Amino acid sequence: MSSTVPELPPGKAPQLRVMPMPSDANVYGDVFGGWIMAQVDIAGSLPATRRANGRVATIAVNSFLFKNPVFVGDLLSFYADIVKVGNTSITVNVEVYAERNRLQTEIVKVTEATLTYVATDENRKPRPLPPLDPSREAGLNPVL
Ligand SMILES: CC(C)(COP(=O)(O)OP(=O)(O)OC[C@H]1O[C@@H](n2cnc3c(N)ncnc32)[C@H](O)[C@@H]1OP(=O)(O)O)[C@@H](O)C(=O)NCCC(=O)NCCS
Repeated sequence: MSSTVPELPPGKAPQLRVMPMPSDANVYGDVFGGWIMAQVDIAGSLPATRRANGRVATIAVNSFLFKNPVFVGDLLSFYADIVKVGNTSITVNVEVYAERNRLQTEIVKVTEATLTYVATDENRKPRPLPPLDPSREAGLNPVL
């Protein structure tokens, strides 16, 4: 299935932009899935940390889809949105787009994932999420 899109998601800012290097490739020369998973985990943790106003730990990778391969030299943009909050947990949806052939721009949606983070205290135990602070959550969905 083709996942080429005309442009990056309009009106949204990526949490992370990064370009994989040859050292991030697998034995076939394409980017190693584990490297992409690490970047997705970092991107998802950013809105979770803001919502938790402190440290979080990843408790679950609920879903992960490598829709298209990632190539060395692609410019990757990671978009992360909180989709659910509980008492201590925050679930985040992450979408990754690659800009490739940068002289003749092609944008491909390469990865989609959903991860759950838990707010933790200084003893690494779950702690209840603080009340929503709109000034801290600028850019996040206000109903969450
Ligand atoms: C994160 C951690 C502190 C949570 O402690 P815990 O005792 O397992 O947590 P609980 O069972 O009380 O669950 C905490 C929250 O996670 C949710 N949760 C538990 N298992 C889950 C799962 N499989 N999927 C999604 N959410 C889950 C619970 O529903 C709860 O959410 P809520 O409070 O919003 O209702 C602990 O599991 C841990 O330290 N895990 C290792 C984290 C880690 O090293 N991650 C990788 C590097 S960051």
